[in-house]
Amino acid sequence: MSIEAFISQYRAHVEQALEQRLAGGDIHPCQLHQAMRYAVLNGGKRIRPILVYATARAVGLEPATLDGPACAVEFIHAFSLIHDDLPAMDDDELRHGKPTCHKAFGEAIALLAGDALQALAFQVLAQDRAMTRQPAIRLHLVATLAQAAGSRGMAGGQAIDLAAVGKELTLAELENMHIHKTGALIRASVLMGALSQEALPAVSLQQLDHYAKCIGLAFQIRDDILDVTADTRTLGKTQGADALLKKPTYPALLGLEGARDHARTLVDEALASLQTFGPEADVLRWIAGYIVERPY
Ligand code: IPE
Ligand code: IPE
Ligand code: MG
Ligand code: MG
Ligand code: MG
Repeated sequence: MSIEAFISQYRAHVEQALEQRLAGGDIHPCQLHQAMRYAVLNGGKRIRPILVYATARAVGLEPATLDGPACAVEFIHAFSLIHDDLPAMDDDELRHGKPTCHKAFGEAIALLAGDALQALAFQVLAQDRAMTRQPAIRLHLVATLAQAAGSRGMAGGQAIDLAAVGKELTLAELENMHIHKTGALIRASVLMGALSQEALPAVSLQQLDHYAKCIGLAFQIRDDILDVTADTRTLGKTQGADALLKKPTYPALLGLEGARDHARTLVDEALASLQTFGPEADVLRWIAGYIVERPY
Protein backbone atom coordinates (compact mmCIF):
# COMPACT_ATOMS: atom_id res chain seq x y z
CA MET A 1 0.00 0.00 0.00
CA SER A 2 1.33 3.46 -0.86
CA ILE A 3 1.92 5.99 1.91
CA GLU A 4 -0.88 8.25 0.71
CA ALA A 5 -3.27 5.29 0.50
CA PHE A 6 -2.34 4.23 4.03
CA ILE A 7 -3.00 7.70 5.37
CA SER A 8 -6.31 8.22 3.62
CA GLN A 9 -7.46 4.71 4.53
CA TYR A 10 -6.69 5.16 8.21
CA ARG A 11 -8.01 8.69 8.32
CA ALA A 12 -11.36 7.37 7.09
CA HIS A 13 -11.03 4.40 9.43
CA VAL A 14 -10.53 6.54 12.52
CA GLU A 15 -13.46 8.79 11.61
CA GLN A 16 -15.67 5.72 11.89
CA ALA A 17 -13.96 4.42 15.01
CA LEU A 18 -14.44 7.79 16.74
CA GLU A 19 -18.05 8.03 15.70
CA GLN A 20 -18.78 4.55 17.03
CA ARG A 21 -17.33 5.38 20.43
CA LEU A 22 -19.31 8.56 20.96
CA ALA A 23 -22.82 8.46 22.41
CA GLY A 24 -25.54 9.54 19.96
CA GLY A 25 -26.75 13.12 20.05
CA ASP A 26 -30.21 11.80 20.86
CA ILE A 27 -29.00 10.13 24.04
CA HIS A 28 -29.68 11.90 27.31
CA PRO A 29 -28.15 14.40 28.21
CA CYS A 30 -28.50 15.27 24.54
CA GLN A 31 -26.83 18.67 24.57
CA LEU A 32 -23.68 17.29 26.18
CA HIS A 33 -23.47 14.40 23.73
CA GLN A 34 -24.11 16.75 20.83
CA ALA A 35 -21.30 19.03 22.02
CA MET A 36 -18.90 16.09 22.29
CA ARG A 37 -19.78 14.96 18.76
CA TYR A 38 -19.50 18.53 17.48
CA ALA A 39 -16.00 18.87 18.91
CA VAL A 40 -14.72 15.49 17.70
CA LEU A 41 -16.42 14.88 14.33
CA ASN A 42 -15.11 18.09 12.89
CA GLY A 43 -12.68 17.74 10.03
CA GLY A 44 -9.49 17.73 12.09
CA LYS A 45 -6.37 16.33 10.45
CA ARG A 46 -6.30 13.27 12.77
CA ILE A 47 -2.52 13.41 12.87
CA ARG A 48 -2.34 11.77 16.31
CA PRO A 49 -4.42 8.68 15.42
CA ILE A 50 -2.52 8.40 12.14
CA LEU A 51 0.71 8.41 14.14
CA VAL A 52 -0.62 5.55 16.28
CA TYR A 53 -1.46 3.53 13.14
CA ALA A 54 1.79 4.42 11.37
CA THR A 55 3.80 3.36 14.43
CA ALA A 56 1.84 0.10 14.57
CA ARG A 57 2.92 -0.52 10.99
CA ALA A 58 6.53 0.35 11.81
CA VAL A 59 6.62 -2.23 14.61
CA GLY A 60 4.81 -4.98 12.71
CA LEU A 61 1.34 -4.77 14.25
CA GLU A 62 -1.98 -4.72 12.43
CA PRO A 63 -2.91 -1.01 12.68
CA ALA A 64 -6.64 -1.61 13.17
CA THR A 65 -5.93 -3.43 16.45
CA LEU A 66 -4.94 -0.01 17.82
CA ASP A 67 -8.26 1.76 17.30
CA GLY A 68 -8.49 2.09 21.10
CA PRO A 69 -5.31 4.17 21.58
CA ALA A 70 -5.93 6.02 18.29
CA CYS A 71 -9.38 7.16 19.46
CA ALA A 72 -8.24 7.78 23.02
CA VAL A 73 -5.53 10.25 22.02
CA GLU A 74 -7.87 12.04 19.62
CA PHE A 75 -10.49 12.38 22.36
CA ILE A 76 -7.86 13.97 24.62
CA HIS A 77 -6.81 16.25 21.76
CA ALA A 78 -10.42 17.34 21.10
CA PHE A 79 -10.88 17.99 24.81
CA SER A 80 -7.70 20.09 24.87
CA LEU A 81 -8.95 22.20 21.95
CA ILE A 82 -12.37 22.83 23.52
CA HIS A 83 -10.71 24.12 26.67
CA ASP A 84 -7.95 25.95 24.75
CA ASP A 85 -10.62 27.97 22.93
CA LEU A 86 -12.53 29.01 26.06
CA PRO A 87 -12.61 32.69 27.05
CA ALA A 88 -10.46 31.89 30.10
CA MET A 89 -7.74 30.62 27.76
CA ASP A 90 -7.34 31.71 24.12
CA ASP A 91 -10.88 33.07 23.76
CA ASP A 92 -11.30 31.85 20.19
CA GLU A 93 -14.51 31.94 18.22
CA LEU A 94 -13.57 29.81 15.25
CA ARG A 95 -12.34 26.22 15.02
CA HIS A 96 -12.43 24.00 11.93
CA GLY A 97 -14.21 26.80 10.13
CA LYS A 98 -17.13 26.72 12.55
CA PRO A 99 -18.01 28.41 15.86
CA THR A 100 -15.93 26.98 18.72
CA CYS A 101 -17.69 24.54 21.04
CA HIS A 102 -18.47 27.15 23.70
CA LYS A 103 -19.84 29.53 21.04
CA ALA A 104 -22.16 26.80 19.79
CA PHE A 105 -23.17 25.24 23.13
CA GLY A 106 -22.26 27.74 25.86
CA GLU A 107 -19.30 27.68 28.22
CA ALA A 108 -20.74 25.29 30.80
CA ILE A 109 -21.55 22.56 28.28
CA ALA A 110 -18.19 23.11 26.54
CA LEU A 111 -16.37 22.60 29.83
CA LEU A 112 -18.34 19.43 30.49
CA ALA A 113 -17.83 18.15 26.95
CA GLY A 114 -14.08 18.50 27.52
CA ASP A 115 -14.30 16.73 30.87
CA ALA A 116 -16.39 13.92 29.42
CA LEU A 117 -14.08 13.44 26.43
CA GLN A 118 -11.14 13.11 28.75
CA ALA A 119 -12.99 10.45 30.76
CA LEU A 120 -14.07 8.70 27.56
CA ALA A 121 -10.45 8.48 26.39
CA PHE A 122 -9.49 6.43 29.42
CA GLN A 123 -12.66 4.36 29.30
CA VAL A 124 -11.82 3.43 25.71
CA LEU A 125 -8.25 2.51 26.64
CA ALA A 126 -9.46 0.43 29.57
CA GLN A 127 -12.21 -1.42 27.71
CA ASP A 128 -11.38 -1.58 24.01
CA ARG A 129 -11.81 -5.19 22.91
CA ALA A 130 -9.60 -5.15 19.83
CA MET A 131 -6.62 -4.06 21.92
CA THR A 132 -4.03 -6.43 23.19
CA ARG A 133 -5.37 -8.83 25.79
CA GLN A 134 -2.20 -8.31 27.81
CA PRO A 135 -3.29 -6.35 30.87
CA ALA A 136 0.26 -5.11 31.56
CA ILE A 137 0.47 -3.44 28.14
CA ARG A 138 -2.97 -1.93 28.51
CA LEU A 139 -1.98 -0.47 31.88
CA HIS A 140 1.21 0.92 30.38
CA LEU A 141 -0.82 2.69 27.66
CA VAL A 142 -3.20 4.16 30.26
CA ALA A 143 -0.26 5.49 32.26
CA THR A 144 1.43 6.86 29.11
CA LEU A 145 -1.63 8.78 27.99
CA ALA A 146 -2.42 10.01 31.51
CA GLN A 147 1.07 11.39 31.93
CA ALA A 148 0.93 13.05 28.51
CA ALA A 149 -2.41 14.70 29.22
CA GLY A 150 -1.75 15.83 32.77
CA SER A 151 0.21 18.45 34.67
CA ARG A 152 3.52 17.00 33.45
CA GLY A 153 2.24 17.02 29.88
CA MET A 154 -0.43 18.91 27.92
CA ALA A 155 -2.23 20.52 30.87
CA GLY A 156 1.11 21.59 32.33
CA GLY A 157 2.13 23.05 28.98
CA GLN A 158 -1.11 24.99 28.77
CA ALA A 159 -0.41 26.43 32.24
CA ILE A 160 3.05 27.48 31.10
CA ASP A 161 1.48 29.03 27.97
CA LEU A 162 -0.95 31.11 30.02
CA ALA A 163 1.75 32.25 32.43
CA ALA A 164 3.92 33.30 29.46
CA VAL A 165 1.44 35.74 27.91
CA GLY A 166 3.10 39.09 27.35
CA LYS A 167 6.51 37.77 28.41
CA GLU A 168 9.62 37.22 26.39
CA LEU A 169 10.77 33.65 26.85
CA THR A 170 14.21 32.29 26.14
CA LEU A 171 14.48 29.64 23.45
CA ALA A 172 14.82 26.98 26.15
CA GLU A 173 11.67 28.18 27.93
CA LEU A 174 9.70 28.31 24.69
CA GLU A 175 10.87 24.83 23.79
CA ASN A 176 9.83 23.56 27.21
CA MET A 177 6.35 25.07 26.77
CA HIS A 178 5.85 23.55 23.31
CA ILE A 179 7.21 20.14 24.30
CA HIS A 180 4.56 19.97 26.99
CA LYS A 181 1.48 21.62 25.51
CA THR A 182 1.68 19.90 22.11
CA GLY A 183 4.67 17.57 22.06
CA ALA A 184 3.42 15.37 24.89
CA LEU A 185 0.30 14.07 23.09
CA ILE A 186 2.19 13.54 19.85
CA ARG A 187 4.87 11.64 21.72
CA ALA A 188 2.19 9.56 23.48
CA SER A 189 0.64 8.67 20.11
CA VAL A 190 3.90 7.11 18.93
CA LEU A 191 4.69 5.58 22.31
CA MET A 192 1.30 3.89 22.56
CA GLY A 193 1.84 2.33 19.14
CA ALA A 194 5.35 1.20 20.05
CA LEU A 195 4.46 -0.11 23.52
CA SER A 196 1.71 -2.25 22.03
CA GLN A 197 4.39 -4.42 20.44
CA GLU A 198 5.75 -6.36 23.39
CA ALA A 199 8.56 -7.87 21.32
CA LEU A 200 9.97 -4.45 20.39
CA PRO A 201 13.65 -4.11 21.35
CA ALA A 202 14.35 -1.33 23.86
CA VAL A 203 16.59 0.48 21.40
CA SER A 204 13.80 0.64 18.78
CA LEU A 205 11.45 2.04 21.40
CA GLN A 206 14.04 4.68 22.21
CA GLN A 207 14.48 5.59 18.54
CA LEU A 208 10.74 5.93 18.01
CA ASP A 209 10.49 8.01 21.16
CA HIS A 210 13.19 10.37 19.95
CA TYR A 211 11.49 10.64 16.55
CA ALA A 212 8.25 11.53 18.34
CA LYS A 213 9.83 14.17 20.57
CA CYS A 214 11.35 15.89 17.54
CA ILE A 215 8.19 15.93 15.43
CA GLY A 216 6.06 16.94 18.43
CA LEU A 217 8.07 20.11 18.88
CA ALA A 218 8.22 20.71 15.12
CA PHE A 219 4.43 20.40 14.98
CA GLN A 220 3.88 23.33 17.34
CA ILE A 221 6.57 25.40 15.61
CA ARG A 222 4.66 24.90 12.36
CA ASP A 223 1.41 25.82 14.15
CA ASP A 224 3.06 29.08 15.28
CA ILE A 225 4.30 29.79 11.75
CA LEU A 226 0.89 29.13 10.21
CA ASP A 227 -0.68 31.54 12.69
CA VAL A 228 1.43 34.23 10.99
CA THR A 229 1.50 33.12 7.35
CA ALA A 230 -1.75 31.30 6.58
CA ASP A 231 -5.23 32.79 6.33
CA THR A 232 -8.27 32.23 8.50
CA ARG A 233 -10.15 30.38 5.78
CA THR A 234 -7.37 27.84 5.26
CA LEU A 235 -6.70 27.44 8.97
CA GLY A 236 -10.33 27.22 9.99
CA LYS A 237 -9.25 29.23 13.05
CA THR A 238 -8.52 32.91 13.48
CA GLN A 239 -5.22 33.85 11.86
CA GLY A 240 -2.99 36.18 13.86
CA ALA A 241 -4.46 35.15 17.22
CA ASP A 242 -1.04 34.55 18.81
CA ALA A 243 0.25 38.07 18.17
CA LEU A 244 -3.04 39.53 19.32
CA LEU A 245 -2.86 37.58 22.58
CA LYS A 246 0.85 38.36 23.01
CA LYS A 247 1.81 34.69 23.02
CA PRO A 248 5.49 33.89 22.86
CA THR A 249 6.04 31.91 19.65
CA TYR A 250 8.93 30.61 17.54
CA PRO A 251 8.43 33.17 14.75
CA ALA A 252 8.31 35.95 17.35
CA LEU A 253 11.62 34.78 18.82
CA LEU A 254 13.53 33.53 15.77
CA GLY A 255 11.74 35.23 12.87
CA LEU A 256 9.84 33.24 10.24
CA GLU A 257 12.91 31.89 8.47
CA GLY A 258 14.60 31.07 11.75
CA ALA A 259 11.50 29.19 12.93
CA ARG A 260 11.29 27.29 9.62
CA ASP A 261 14.98 26.32 9.84
CA HIS A 262 14.53 25.14 13.39
CA ALA A 263 11.55 22.96 12.43
CA ARG A 264 13.46 21.47 9.47
CA THR A 265 16.43 20.66 11.71
CA LEU A 266 14.09 18.82 14.06
CA VAL A 267 12.63 16.83 11.17
CA ASP A 268 16.13 15.84 10.04
CA GLU A 269 16.82 14.67 13.58
CA ALA A 270 13.55 12.73 13.61
CA LEU A 271 14.44 11.04 10.32
CA ALA A 272 17.94 10.18 11.55
CA SER A 273 16.36 8.48 14.52
CA LEU A 274 14.52 6.10 12.16
CA GLN A 275 17.69 5.14 10.30
CA THR A 276 17.72 1.49 11.34
CA PHE A 277 14.07 1.01 10.35
CA GLY A 278 13.19 -0.20 6.88
CA PRO A 279 10.31 0.69 4.58
CA GLU A 280 7.85 -0.29 7.33
CA ALA A 281 8.60 3.14 8.84
CA ASP A 282 8.04 5.07 5.60
CA VAL A 283 4.69 6.43 6.75
CA LEU A 284 6.39 7.84 9.86
CA ARG A 285 9.04 9.43 7.62
CA TRP A 286 6.39 10.95 5.41
CA ILE A 287 4.53 12.36 8.44
CA ALA A 288 7.72 14.06 9.67
CA GLY A 289 8.03 15.94 6.39
CA TYR A 290 4.32 16.71 6.27
CA ILE A 291 4.40 18.28 9.72
CA VAL A 292 6.69 21.10 8.62
CA GLU A 293 5.17 21.58 5.16
CA ARG A 294 1.48 21.28 5.98
CA PRO A 295 -0.71 24.16 4.81
CA TYR A 296 -2.99 24.06 7.90
C1 IPE B 1 -3.93 22.19 16.86
O1 IPE B 1 -3.69 20.82 16.62
C2 IPE B 1 -3.49 22.55 18.23
C3 IPE B 1 -2.11 22.21 18.52
C4 IPE B 1 -1.80 21.36 19.44
C5 IPE B 1 -1.05 22.85 17.79
P1 IPE B 1 -4.01 20.20 15.20
O2 IPE B 1 -3.47 21.06 14.13
O3 IPE B 1 -3.59 18.77 15.19
O4 IPE B 1 -5.60 20.27 15.15
P2 IPE B 1 -6.64 19.58 14.20
O5 IPE B 1 -7.28 18.52 15.04
O6 IPE B 1 -5.98 19.01 13.00
O7 IPE B 1 -7.60 20.66 13.88
C1 IPE C 1 -2.82 24.50 21.60
O1 IPE C 1 -1.92 25.43 21.21
C2 IPE C 1 -2.25 23.45 22.44
C3 IPE C 1 -3.31 22.63 23.01
C4 IPE C 1 -4.57 22.67 22.67
C5 IPE C 1 -2.94 21.72 24.05
P1 IPE C 1 -2.56 26.66 20.41
O2 IPE C 1 -3.40 27.51 21.30
O3 IPE C 1 -1.50 27.30 19.62
O4 IPE C 1 -3.53 25.87 19.40
P2 IPE C 1 -4.48 26.58 18.34
O5 IPE C 1 -3.60 27.44 17.49
O6 IPE C 1 -5.50 27.34 19.12
O7 IPE C 1 -5.06 25.44 17.57
MG1 MG D 1 -3.47 27.96 23.29
MG1 MG E 1 -5.37 28.28 20.86
MG1 MG F 1 -1.70 28.02 17.63
